[in-house]
This record gives sequence, C-alpha cells and structure tokens, in this order.
Amino acid sequence: APPPPPGPLADDSSKLVYDSAHPYQALRPGDQRGPCPALNTLASHGYIPRTGIATPAQIVTAVQEGLNLENSFARFLTYSTFLVNGNPLTNLMSIGDKTSATGPNPPKPATVSGLDTHNNCEGDTSMTREDAFFGDNHSFNEDRFQNFINFSNKYGAGKYNYTVAAQLRKFLIQDSIQNNPQFTLVSPRLFTAFAESVFPANFFIDGRDKSGQLSLTNARSFFQNMMFPPNFYRRDGAVSTTGQDIVINLNANFKPGFNAKGVNTFTVDPTSATLAQPCVRYVNFVNNNIKELYPNPTGTLKQALTINLQYLYEATVAAGDNCTQVFPYGH
Ligand code: HEM
Ligand code: MG
Repeated sequence: APPPPPGPLADDSSKLVYDSAHPYQALRPGDQRGPCPALNTLASHGYIPRTGIATPAQIVTAVQEGLNLENSFARFLTYSTFLVNGNPLTNLMSIGDKTSATGPNPPKPATVSGLDTHNNCEGDTSMTREDAFFGDNHSFNEDRFQNFINFSNKYGAGKYNYTVAAQLRKFLIQDSIQNNPQFTLVSPRLFTAFAESVFPANFFIDGRDKSGQLSLTNARSFFQNMMFPPNFYRRDGAVSTTGQDIVINLNANFKPGFNAKGVNTFTVDPTSATLAQPCVRYVNFVNNNIKELYPNPTGTLKQALTINLQYLYEATVAAGDNCTQVFPYGH
C-alpha cells in the first residue's frame, strides 16, 4: 500500500538549498522534465530523483525541503496530480512526458501520462509555456517569457510581484480567449492557474531577500534553466498561496468557461467550481475526473486509489477546506 506523505518540516527557517549535497546536473538522455519550473529545478538538484520519476512522498519532501511549500498544500497538489498522472500500481509519476519508467500501467481508460498531459493539471494560460493547442504545452517558451518580462517592467519596475501576477493573469486569459480556439479554464485547472501566478513571487526569491520582488534573473534561472540561482536560500517560513487574493480581486469578473466555437466565443461553464467553491472542486474532481480514468478498479488498484484518495481528502481538510468526503469506490 502507498505509504503516507511526510508531515511538515521540523525547521522551516531559511537556509542554503543550493548546497554541496545538491549540485546542479544537466539532463541525461531519458531524464524527464516538464511544465513545472519548481519540480524541474528540484530534479536538476537531486531533491527529486534526477530521472524525474518520483513517488508522491518524494515530491512532497522535495517541495518542502527545497522551496518551503506548506505541508497541506504540498500534499494537496501532489495527490491531485498523482491521481490523474501517476501510476497507482507502482506509486511512481513522471514530472514530464509519459514513460515506461513508471512501470506497468493499470488498464485504460487510465492514462498515467506524466505532468505534460493536457488535462486537469496542466492547462491553458501558463506564463511561460504555450497553450496545448499551439503544440508544446511543457517546454519553456521565450516569447511568453518576454511577455513576463514586459509585464514585470510595466507593473513591477523590472521585478515580478503580486501586482504583476494579477495583471499578467488577466492578460493571459484574454490572450487565450482571443487566440486559442480550444481555450478552456475550468476547475480544477482554474485553481492552479491562479495559485501558480503567485508562486514565483512566493518561492523563487532568495530567502535573505525580504523585498517581495522577484528579479528576472532568478525567474529565468528557474523557468528556463531549471537551476537554483547561485547560493540560493529557500524562503523563510512555509507558505502556499499568499498573495493570491490580489490576483483574484483584479480578475473578479472572470467566470470559469471555454471557447465554445472558436476564438472569441468564451462561454461560462456553470458545472465548473468557481474559485469560491473548493468543495465543489473536490467532489467533482473525485466523482468525475478520477472516476473517468478509473471507472471500475479492482484488487490492489482499487486499494491504492482508495488510499491515495484518502491522502487527498486529508490534505484538503488540512488546507482549510472542510469538505464532506466522497467515496467513489466504497468505504
Ligand atoms: C506549473 C511553481 C509545486 C505541478 C507551475 C508554474 C509555476 C509553478 C510558477 C507555472 C508555470 C508557467 O505558468 O509557466 C511551483 C512551485 C512549487 C510547485 C514554486 C512548489 C514550491 C508543484 C507540485 C506539483 C506541481 C507539488 C504536482 C506534483 C505543476 C504542473 C504545472 C505546474 C502540472 C503545469 C500547470 C500549467 O501551467 O499548465 N508550477 N510548483 N507543481 N506545476 Fe508547479
Ligand atoms: Mg500549461
């Protein structure tokens, strides 16, 4: 049975994380990297296995130890992603592309396709990756990063901060509505799109720097080079989505939805949870998204899914969302 996730760090103070035990190493053939600049970087420094193939517990440990992501949110992100993109039979997930390195797969319609998969984890309106419609949803994209730079110059005096995050999120949504005929931004991706907007400001600034302003040098180091800046210290004290309210406030008029008939046909999806409905997100994620991938599991597969769903629920509650638990595969 899959082991439980680790608890919080005993000491979450700032410290050197680009240390001699965690040197940067370039990718070897077959190593997996994907759409998440944090996981990519942690893998390049050995906090996550350098292959990019990891267990949920290894990922939770790495994002806590390397970047100081708060425990309940780390568990929530990890198990919701793992349930969709990981292999419950081997307890392994690729942080990039689908690969045989995660072992023999459970039966279809399960996909076990890694973080690159365009589904309820990876989604549209990323800051430095293109929408899947344009072909590559996981590689660093210089044009999009130039836009990140332009917004940081315009709204942050050359640095990335919460104000920039809010303006860039607003722009990226409009940009996709106008240019991506298959644009969609609904739960659960909706939630990560808003959370990820503040992640660079919360986690990519050196822990000794209390300005709240992310330099574009640091940003490029994580987003493109998958490398800690020289002598990087993790932030002081664990957090998760601090600052997100600023992003949500500027985008208060946005409702989850999609382009129904090509560009500029944005249509609200009333079945999607809104940002104010985390328990609708939880219930629909379990009963729809997971049930679609695993309609009728049996034996060890059912057992593993049930336990991972339990870990997801515990993380949901620990993160402050007191939702009623649902049991798609019985008790
Ligand atoms: C994307 C940061 C942890 C999975 C992103 C993005 C950022 C980010 C900034 C957006 C990239 C962009 O828009 O160009 C972080 C930080 C983390 C963290 C700072 C921890 C401190 C995790 C964890 C998971 C995860 C634990 C799941 C196991 C993803 C996925 C995407 C992503 C699937 C792609 C979503 C998309 O933009 O389409 N992450 N992340 N991340 N992250 Fe992470
Ligand atoms: Mg994306």
